[in-house]
Amino acid sequence: MAEIDQATPPVDQLTAMNLNDAIQNHAFSDRVLIRSIVGRSDGGAGLAGQRVRAGGWVKTGREQGKGTFAFLELNDGSCPANLQVIVDAGVAVLSKLVATGTCVVVDGILKSPPEGTRQRIELRVEKVVHIGEVDPAKYPIPKTKLTLEFLRDHLHLRSRTNTIAAIARIRNALAFATHSFFQEHHFLYVHTPIITTSDCEGAGEMFQVTTLISEAEKLEKELIKNPPPSEADIEAARQLVSERGEAVKQLKAAKASKEDIGASVAELNKAKESLLKLEERSKLKPGIPLKDGKIDYNQDFFARQAFLTVSGQLQVETYACAVSNVYTFGPTFRAEHSHTSRHLAEFWMVEPEIAFADLQDDMNCAEAYVKYMCKYLLEQCLDDMEFMAKNYDKGCIERLRMVASTPFVRISYTKAVELLEEAVRDGKKFENEVEWGIDLASEHERYLTEVKFQKPVIVYNYPKGIKAFYMRLNDDLKTVAAMDVLVPKVGELIGGSQREERYEVIRERIMEMGLPLEPYEWYLDLRRYGTVKHCGFGLGFERMILFATGIDNIRDVIPFPRYPGRADL
Ligand code: 4AD
Ligand code: MG
Repeated sequence: MAEIDQATPPVDQLTAMNLNDAIQNHAFSDRVLIRSIVGRSDGGAGLAGQRVRAGGWVKTGREQGKGTFAFLELNDGSCPANLQVIVDAGVAVLSKLVATGTCVVVDGILKSPPEGTRQRIELRVEKVVHIGEVDPAKYPIPKTKLTLEFLRDHLHLRSRTNTIAAIARIRNALAFATHSFFQEHHFLYVHTPIITTSDCEGAGEMFQVTTLISEAEKLEKELIKNPPPSEADIEAARQLVSERGEAVKQLKAAKASKEDIGASVAELNKAKESLLKLEERSKLKPGIPLKDGKIDYNQDFFARQAFLTVSGQLQVETYACAVSNVYTFGPTFRAEHSHTSRHLAEFWMVEPEIAFADLQDDMNCAEAYVKYMCKYLLEQCLDDMEFMAKNYDKGCIERLRMVASTPFVRISYTKAVELLEEAVRDGKKFENEVEWGIDLASEHERYLTEVKFQKPVIVYNYPKGIKAFYMRLNDDLKTVAAMDVLVPKVGELIGGSQREERYEVIRERIMEMGLPLEPYEWYLDLRRYGTVKHCGFGLGFERMILFATGIDNIRDVIPFPRYPGRADL
């Protein structure tokens, strides 16, 4: 057995590893990572002769040599490759090991396999330490190729599949790259709230957060168990109060002892108290509390209406306008009823915000960030990317290389519309009609990035009528300093803008859009006091994963997808 290394391993054990070093256990468990065997540049060949403990789940297993030994392909999720494990019948009951999904932990010696086999190393088992059995007749994720749709009905087990595990590692790498990129450029990571009372996009697509409904249900149940007092109950309680009051009066008139009067007053107070309680309870009404015919949010948990955030932008701006460069990265929620392969009700967004910066800086930052992520995947996740290329999208690695090395096209919205109109004249059919002023539909965006330019395209300066109130009004008074980054495979990956920093102008824009001023007063304060030009954008994190992996449906690149009609687990 390899010795347990107490020291913290370097961030990337494999790249730092000398091929002659003894293999080490994982820092926090008593086995080696399969990655540290088969993920080496020599495929593990140089480890022959070493004793290790390995653990994982059986991908495929088969008994061989008339049941004298078994081959297991073991995977622990540390890399896409499996470790080939050989168990002799004398060591364990082979039939318990071979079912797909079985968990096994084994001790053994690494050996060079016979010439001509694919593996560079295999593990000869000396002892089986643990078996987590699987009944193959019942296991919902058998070895056969399963569709991603089928797997969506088994969210709790789909991480056992090669595809979902590869996506998980790619997603993890992109999150790590995100933090590296912004940290390297001195951005501060700020946690913006998930529960909010402002609608950032003003699009009314927010999920409400309220306890009024559960409170009403609780009360309803309680009132069934303990019905409210009747008028007669209250009358009887009133009667008791007046009788007890009378008794006190009489004792006082008769100059009774202090003790007797005191006891009688105590009785009176008790009667008053229970009358008060009954009166209170009689006021309880089932249902949502109303005031003037409207829901009374004063009685809600936050004493006002609250929602799940659609974007952390407005809040993160308060930090940008104080500490200059910031970003937020967290879950966001949109109650859109879109059943597309690009929309989720809960998705993650990366939102940088930069002070002393304009739309050009914004586009430069977005382009550098996307390129950085592409390079990072090519350097750190090539094995998983090769898996995606082989099984889902032949061109995905080439696409990463292209995006990492090609300058993004930048065109104004007006130019984009001209190009689309030109395409229509040349016979291209779009479902949505093209004219200046429309919000570009996904088909338009994909035409520009996939057909016309075949590379990422940044469209900027959109008509103000189709964009949010906070975007900076351009001098033409018709367009705003917005920009969307469009990429092949996905369409819109990023939406951003320079923010309107002029107090009078933004106030006017809020009113023009029919939004109430009061909830945005704090946001206006950023313009009232020490205003500064600033900009930012939001990158849809799942869309970045779609773009990288070539997976078709966004529901397969988030561990627990939420969309209309579904929120499993
Ligand atoms: O363009 P959006 O709506 O921009 C904002 O929310 C700004 N407040 C961001 C900012 O400037 N800080 O959303 C940004 C990105 C989109 O480009 C898209 O990639 C993604 O978020 N996105 C979604 N991803 C998955 N499912 C949905 N329903 C999405 N809606 C937007
Ligand atoms: Mg957008």
